[in-house]
Amino acid sequence: MLAATQRIYGAPNVLTLEQIARPTLSPRDLLIEVLATPVTQGDRRLRSSDFPTITWLPGRLMFGLTRPRVPVKGTQFAGRVIAVGSEVTQFNVGDNVFGSTDDGAYAELLAISEDSTVIHTPQGWGHAEAASMPYGGITALVFLNRLAKLSAGEHIAIVGASGGVGRATVQLARALGATVTAVCSRDHDLMRELGAHHVVDRRNENFTDHRARYDVIFDTSGHVSFSSCRKSLTAKGRYLSVYMTARGL
Ligand SMILES: NC(=O)c1ccc[n+]([C@@H]2O[C@H](COP(=O)([O-])OP(=O)(O)OC[C@H]3O[C@@H](n4cnc5c(N)ncnc54)[C@H](OP(=O)(O)O)[C@@H]3O)[C@@H](O)[C@H]2O)c1
Repeated sequence: MLAATQRIYGAPNVLTLEQIARPTLSPRDLLIEVLATPVTQGDRRLRSSDFPTITWLPGRLMFGLTRPRVPVKGTQFAGRVIAVGSEVTQFNVGDNVFGSTDDGAYAELLAISEDSTVIHTPQGWGHAEAASMPYGGITALVFLNRLAKLSAGEHIAIVGASGGVGRATVQLARALGATVTAVCSRDHDLMRELGAHHVVDRRNENFTDHRARYDVIFDTSGHVSFSSCRKSLTAKGRYLSVYMTARGL
């Protein structure tokens, strides 16, 4: 099968198209014909080994110290099931599916366990739409539900709201019943369409100028810090950052 492979870390030109062996199927695996796969900020980081500050060494140890441990990257996918292992119960050949994986999506075929992050594509969704959903969607879900425990009636400020994670977070926060302030420099009308009650243009206004305004501040940009946000958080306010770096402090 054809795959985009990389043997070294670097810019997009480290990727090469080459023929490699088809994946073999374990009993609980689906074999998926990949019909769409995005390049997210996460994929870019993995390709170029751009792991922020203190995460650089753990990142290298995890993904390959001197070169990528796995040559076929790609963490999000949508496509069609073309074969199933003997113990698969939830999927059939011909099903449209999408999901998230550690690697392997930059290839014509992907083998993935039915117990991993893969679900049926809803009726009416295209493959490109489905493939773009997990990255921002899962990140937003984990940060808002599990970490921030955002509840209806709370006020959240989302920094980097126009980005891949931010756009999903705006929609999820609104769906959870929160008041949403989107902080970004572009796509202001889109932010309102996605559910933001307020839009702060970071070029003209500082969203932290309001005292005790936000129950949650979620930074997806890596350009703000807890200390700069502290006074604009309510007494039980939570500050979250997607960046595991000392700068978040
Ligand atoms: N920890 C995790 O589990 C996890 C999961 C997924 C992603 N991530 C990380 O999250 C980060 C964001 O991902 P993404 O896909 O959303 O990236 P993205 O699409 O590039 O969005 C980042 C946003 O940051 C904003 N920004 C840029 N410069 C800024 C500044 N100086 N001040 C304030 N905002 C600024 C930009 O919006 P404006 O220019 O419109 O302001 C942009 O939309 C990436 O670093 C990614 O690796 C982490």
